[in-house]
Amino acid sequence: MSLDYTNQKFVLDTSDHPQGSVTWRSPSNLAIVKYWGKHGRQLPRNPSISLTLDTAHTTTTLHYQRREQVSSDGISLDLMFEGVPAPAFAERIRRYLESIGNIYPFLRQLHLTIHSENSFPHSSGIASSASSMSALALCLCSLERHFFDSLADEQEFLTKASYLARLASGSAARSVYPFMSAWGRHGDISGSSDEFAVPYTDALHPSFKTMRNAILIVSSGTKAVSSSAGHQLMETHPYAATRYIQAGQRMSQLLPALQHGDWDLFGQITENEALTLHALMMASNPSYLLMKPQSLQLIDAIRSFRADTGLPVYFSLDAGPNLHVLYPDEHADKIESFLEAECIPVCENGVWIADKAGEGPKEILE
Ligand code: PMV
Repeated sequence: MSLDYTNQKFVLDTSDHPQGSVTWRSPSNLAIVKYWGKHGRQLPRNPSISLTLDTAHTTTTLHYQRREQVSSDGISLDLMFEGVPAPAFAERIRRYLESIGNIYPFLRQLHLTIHSENSFPHSSGIASSASSMSALALCLCSLERHFFDSLADEQEFLTKASYLARLASGSAARSVYPFMSAWGRHGDISGSSDEFAVPYTDALHPSFKTMRNAILIVSSGTKAVSSSAGHQLMETHPYAATRYIQAGQRMSQLLPALQHGDWDLFGQITENEALTLHALMMASNPSYLLMKPQSLQLIDAIRSFRADTGLPVYFSLDAGPNLHVLYPDEHADKIESFLEAECIPVCENGVWIADKAGEGPKEILE
């Protein structure tokens, strides 16, 4: 069954002159089973599951006031990113808000000013679309609740926020839940959907709820391939069909590991997924090589350390050269001493971010 949030009743009365703001802080997330390939209106070709981060987040404030004159020219928006106007980002957001005009027709009746800032350094190479788009979607749901007294139920609120976040950036759908979240229909996750993410929290072994994630910055430069171009490449990729089957199978293997605290199996799947994502990019046409020599050096160092010590420490990668190192909280001291000694010196300007599994977004009340 497909959700239909179209609602022509969500308009403000002519006598209403609302003015105010809402603020949400929302985290980034790291996919363990990766989403790579989409179709239709931001629908995934395969299911994915991710770790919700904590330290890496975006804080977005949405100010609204009644527009003097509602014109047919769409959304009235100013956007400041980290205190300065950001025209390209503003244009992307304006197009997105226009695209959801049939869900939230009231947006055209308002003048909107968005202030958005990231907790992580501007050019750290960390993808910010998941955190920023989920923060915006949560702000929109708060507006709906405020104006129309709807979405009182928490689950209903988060499902809609996840749906709206997905329309802005697929992976953002997963950022609205704590610890871990799954997006895309999968037989082993009841209630899972291609249209929104669902929490994967209750079944999760406690050792994964305190998981650490050290983000090692290899290069802060912008990506050579945007994720939308990457998804597009999958449409003609020779390995696409096999990959989508594999992703579903890996979900089936991973879920019991997440339930039983099996770090060994979790680590095998996590590393293989990261390398599979990069292998798909390397084998696409045109082909992309996003890892740097230092990425490989760090992978080698982590695998050697694991072999020598037997400690459960694993890596993942996003669509870029930086490494995410994953390990249980209980081994943090030993593993971070190793990272300080052997990995941080390899990072660009010695930069790394100590992140961990997070509790999900928070509304910031004045
Ligand atoms: O949400 P997008 O369109 O930026 O795609 C994200 C894709 C990966 O980050 C590479 C994988 C994932 O599942 O998050």
